[in-house]
Amino acid sequence: MNLKDLFIDFFESKGHVHIPSGPVVPENDNTVLFNTAGMQPLVPYLKGKEHPLGKRLCNYQKCIRTTDLEEVGDSYHHTFFEMLGSWSLGDYFKKEAIIWSYEFLTEVLNIPALKLAITYFAGNEIAPKDVESYKIWRSLGIPDERIVALVEDNWWPNLELPGLCGPDTEMFYWRSNDPVPKKFDPKDSRWVEIWNDVFMQYDHLEDGTIKELSNKNVDTGMGFERVTAILEGTDDNYTSSIFIDVINKIEEISNKKYKGNERYMRIIADHIRTAVFIAADYAGIKPSNVGQGYILRRLIRRAIRFAKELGIDLNSDFEKEIALIIISKYEKYYSEVKDNKLVVLEVLKQEKNKFVKTLEKGLKEFEKVANKDIDGKTTFRLYDTFGFPIEFTSELAKERNLKVDTDGFKECFKAHQELSRTTSAGQFKGGLGGSGEMETKYHTTTHLLNAALKKVLGNDVHQRGSNITSERLRFDFSFDRKLTDEEKTEIENVVNKWIKEDLPINFEQLPKEEALKSGAECEFADRYPDIVTVYSISNISKEICRGPHVKSTKEIGSFKITKEEASAAGIRRIRAEIK
Ligand code: ALA
Repeated sequence: MNLKDLFIDFFESKGHVHIPSGPVVPENDNTVLFNTAGMQPLVPYLKGKEHPLGKRLCNYQKCIRTTDLEEVGDSYHHTFFEMLGSWSLGDYFKKEAIIWSYEFLTEVLNIPALKLAITYFAGNEIAPKDVESYKIWRSLGIPDERIVALVEDNWWPNLELPGLCGPDTEMFYWRSNDPVPKKFDPKDSRWVEIWNDVFMQYDHLEDGTIKELSNKNVDTGMGFERVTAILEGTDDNYTSSIFIDVINKIEEISNKKYKGNERYMRIIADHIRTAVFIAADYAGIKPSNVGQGYILRRLIRRAIRFAKELGIDLNSDFEKEIALIIISKYEKYYSEVKDNKLVVLEVLKQEKNKFVKTLEKGLKEFEKVANKDIDGKTTFRLYDTFGFPIEFTSELAKERNLKVDTDGFKECFKAHQELSRTTSAGQFKGGLGGSGEMETKYHTTTHLLNAALKKVLGNDVHQRGSNITSERLRFDFSFDRKLTDEEKTEIENVVNKWIKEDLPINFEQLPKEEALKSGAECEFADRYPDIVTVYSISNISKEICRGPHVKSTKEIGSFKITKEEASAAGIRRIRAEIK
């Protein structure tokens, strides 16, 4: 039986309710891009809110951590992983938690007690030594030489971080064929941590003080990938049952052996798996240059680069073949993987196609300049023209012991933004002075068109550029195929209907964060000041914008699309006129 099922069955037998995993893109928390720990979706309940399913919960949670993205390639780093978790929300505390952990390890997983060791909290100025946990472990028969008290390592998440926290006790397993030493040395890397029981009883406030929670909670977390590998007797997570079929597929596609190509194959397997989960999330993330979309882009592009290094034909369906294996492994556990299978395959394919076009040229360009450290301007050109994320260029540079001027890159990036800003400000200035009336009308029409495109083509359509003269508007947007005649007519009809409805245009000034949170559209959020103007047209359009706009849509007249064409990869351009 799979470790996930064993874990859930065990905790259910102890009165826990199996709750579903939260999404990888957190729903009500914009402080992090991804869920990074099993307990994250449970924060309100750990703080005391009543959970509808009770006080004892368990699950397996999808987590994504991308701070180590470039570290992936060794035997145990992953950007996506699953964490097995169990919780007591103010119900039982240390005694049951520890006894059940021990029971699960020794009686369900059949790990010999001889191969286990324990750490617990040694005490500091914040909280006392956790003698209680020590005593419980001793009462279970763990010898004194196998129990060590530590400070930093036994406080979760970390002594400095504000938020929920508490002392923890960690269980270690002897992963080696060498004889198990009598005395436990936590610095010996043959001892690997397999489970963490956190006694989450404090809230570390922003002012640095610690507040005792009304609830005394237990939060346990076991890394699924690591423990599966241990149980299967391998010290390479990528050869455990979680990855081996994916690796075999990559061997088949590349016609190369895993042995000798471990790093590249692990990167491809890890990154495609994480990309599958990000693209499958109901949040509808697509590759882009910001937020979760940027991570998705980096993962796919890095996987493609290493596929190329392995000699895989990038024009084949290799990414699909790999993704299909991953999807088939997870769809029974996570509905979004099943529901969004086609979306995932399409995202991977389109991002691959987009990147493959420039990858070759970009790499050549890189070769040309790689005889010395890479300056900011070149890094920016690789980004802007060839789609190389800066982290990507940095990694290429690092492989040759070269440096990348990140500050210089940022300056070029900023200068580029300034330039676009000045250009657009110039347009608006033109709109206000002289024959400003037409430009003002076109400006409001642009908002209507943006909203109509979403209505007709879907919410994934986003503005990618706009240009207005007194004669016409030009509008670029993300979409990857030619529009049909029917679609164009429908878009015209929608805009003309709104014009006829004589809708008022309202605006309000808001802090930018608040405006974005309220769902206001914005092509380049970072080009706007901290306080922005949000223009709304009834409930059909809401955009951060500098104006000017007409007062009511009827002033516009009638709207007609004069041309629809490709503007760049994945970007279409519409020209339209009003009369
Ligand atoms: N929240 C704890 C961890 O992530 C269990 O280790």
